[in-house]
Amino acid sequence: MINPLRGMKDLTFEESERFIYIVDTATTIAKRYGYSYIETPILEETALFKRSVGESSDIVGKEMYQFEDKGGNDVCMRPEGTAGVVRAFVHAKLDRQPVKQKFYYYGPMFRYERPQKGRLREFHQFGCESFGEGSVYEDFTIITMISQIFEALGIGFDLQINSLGCTTCMPPYKQNLVNFLTKIKSELCEDCNRRIGTNPIRVLDCKNQTCQSLLVNSPKLINNLCNECDTDFNKLIVLLDKSGIKYEVDTNLVRGLDYYNKTAFEFVSNDIGSQSAIAGGGRYDKLVEFLEGKPTPAVGFAIGIERIMELVKMPDVVRGGIYLGAMTEDAIEKLFSIATAKRKETKVTLEYNSKGFKSHMKGADKVNARYVVLIGEDELANGTVWVKDLASKEEKTVKSEVF
Ligand code: HAM
Repeated sequence: MINPLRGMKDLTFEESERFIYIVDTATTIAKRYGYSYIETPILEETALFKRSVGESSDIVGKEMYQFEDKGGNDVCMRPEGTAGVVRAFVHAKLDRQPVKQKFYYYGPMFRYERPQKGRLREFHQFGCESFGEGSVYEDFTIITMISQIFEALGIGFDLQINSLGCTTCMPPYKQNLVNFLTKIKSELCEDCNRRIGTNPIRVLDCKNQTCQSLLVNSPKLINNLCNECDTDFNKLIVLLDKSGIKYEVDTNLVRGLDYYNKTAFEFVSNDIGSQSAIAGGGRYDKLVEFLEGKPTPAVGFAIGIERIMELVKMPDVVRGGIYLGAMTEDAIEKLFSIATAKRKETKVTLEYNSKGFKSHMKGADKVNARYVVLIGEDELANGTVWVKDLASKEEKTVKSEVF
């Protein structure tokens, strides 16, 4: 028997129902906010992720499914969706159009991480990317949209927000932070030591307890924002307060991807164990430019579908469709014309074996059919069918053409 690869899984039975329900619910809400569907390739040039997610990030540095294809190209299975959507946006010259563009997507992402509960090597995201809107109102709107998606799915969450500043306030802050970190260097873990040189702000979200205790007195970007970033962040906080969406400002929230500026956020669940982030996102106003497009502000997020799978409250199953069965062998072929006609309007389950009454009723129940339609010897002789509405319990015998 050949098993799926480590950290990858098949989606079957109940899980696939949940998957589709999550995607449908999120899609319905994203469309209400003006998003339209975009699909980009799973395989991209490795350079795309190096330039966007960043070479110093763990995702690019350690976790990429990267290889040389038969044509000698350095390619990579996408570890996330934003970079591909931005590449597509620039490629289609949408950056030169005056209208704002909003896209949603869902699909598999690949990261060669150490698998554990909630952490897969192939996982699925539902994501949205909004281009051309620099106002913090859009950040607020996106956070509201995610809250509505989780509310519709019956999922509780904690929201953490931070501001990562901009090209005016981030560089002096970074220098400030490096000065602080250099002083405590010898006490920090190996990873943090490496990051002081490559990506110092990532030190802030080190999971090591000793490092965290040493960082309590580190300079905080939130206290060093430029006027514009500070005003925007305060606006966001006021809007969240007014809307009743609960949040916590986490000054150590830096995100694992390098393209963010200004607003960064994560939605977290306390009910799924250590891999608790169920969605993440933020603003990335420089990424379009980095990928050779016209400067275009942008903001987006992605939900980890597997992470929320077990949290989703599925709607009650309502009976639907028709179950067709024969109680005599000769009647089976009569059912085909009924099935084909009815399949134009509803779901039809057609049982190919003739069976007794009880057995058919069980079969109809199993597929949650609303109507059972049976043909026995009498019905066959009279050109009729026996119909029962399993919701109202009404039953009748009618001419087969009438049904
Ligand atoms: P991210 O935080 O790397 O952001 O991933 C988003 C979500 O994907 C996470 O919150 C988590 O739920 C899920 N996820 C990440 N890694 C795994 C894994 N190994 N196994 C299972 N689930 C996982 C991004 O990917 C950004 N592209 C989000 C974004 C869109 N920012 C702006 N636009």
